[in-house]
Amino acid sequence: MENVGMIILDINDIPPGSTLASPIYMRGSKLIDKGINISEKIINLMKNWGVAEVKVVVDDSIVLQESKAVSQELHSKLFNEIEMVFKKGLTDGNYSKIKGLIQDLINEIASNGICMAELGKLKLYDLYTYNHSVDVAIMSISAGMILGYSGVKLKNLAIAALLHDIGKIVISPAILNKNGKLDADEYEEIKKHPEMGKAILEQIGGIHTSIIEAVHRHHEWYSGEGYPGRIAGERIPEMARIIAIADACSAMGSKRSYRDPQSTCAIREQLEVCSSTQFDTEIVRIFLLNIIVYVPGKKVKLSDGRDVIVISSGNHPGRPIVREIFSDCNFGEIIDLSDENRLNLTIVPK
Ligand SMILES: [Fe+2]
Ligand SMILES: [Fe+2]
Repeated sequence: MENVGMIILDINDIPPGSTLASPIYMRGSKLIDKGINISEKIINLMKNWGVAEVKVVVDDSIVLQESKAVSQELHSKLFNEIEMVFKKGLTDGNYSKIKGLIQDLINEIASNGICMAELGKLKLYDLYTYNHSVDVAIMSISAGMILGYSGVKLKNLAIAALLHDIGKIVISPAILNKNGKLDADEYEEIKKHPEMGKAILEQIGGIHTSIIEAVHRHHEWYSGEGYPGRIAGERIPEMARIIAIADACSAMGSKRSYRDPQSTCAIREQLEVCSSTQFDTEIVRIFLLNIIVYVPGKKVKLSDGRDVIVISSGNHPGRPIVREIFSDCNFGEIIDLSDENRLNLTIVPK
């Protein structure tokens, strides 16, 4: 193969016989190595494990830029650590392990440039909170770097993001894992988790107040309609305002028992709608320009029904350059969606 590219495909769209471009990890273990030929049997196995998307190698006349993302291995390590915290509680021991891994995460994001969020990586419902916590940390670090955070301040933001839902440890699993909508009493119970989180972190001791405050305030709204304190605007710590947006993006991008993950397109629209009420407008702008963007290699659908892949985000993160793709992994026309002659075409939510 002369020109080799990579493409992220939905598990249901993989042509049998494709080559796996990156290994499949789950809970810290490598289940399938890269380079393997993906047979129908392997596709079914991955579906059973809950894998939603995989990166495959394609023979291509253009070399696709590999998406800048945190390695699956580091994601998996963080996932395991946060899973232990949620199962066994936060201790001095696992807190220092988390601090070490957070430094690795910051280094990886710094060396990759701005990281594209990998929303809802494994999309398994029962693993939701752990994956969610890691995704929120990745996005918060990316936004923090753009806002000029570095050193201890960036590390504190990352730790707060990773532990933002730690208060859910004390909420009944029956409520947390409920299949369907919560009733009013159950919702009141869930709403206790920011205060519970604050209490848990205070009990550990030695945790910076900015981390505790960010965890405590991550459900406050910029308009003052959130909880627990109904505080508004700049009174909400900036770290909490960042985490609130990352939190919503991760939640929208993940599969839940009652709905499918929302597309990048739908998440972008929702962020715009909630800008200035729920969220800080300036920080939303950072997410729209740098974080919730169409990752090169990602397959999307156009409003005229064509399947395309993103080649580059071009000059307009909401209207990237795409290329038509056919089911046999052959490619067609290259379309710059920011071109004024192409403004009638849009990416549609899946
Ligand atoms: Fe939360
Ligand atoms: Fe959350």
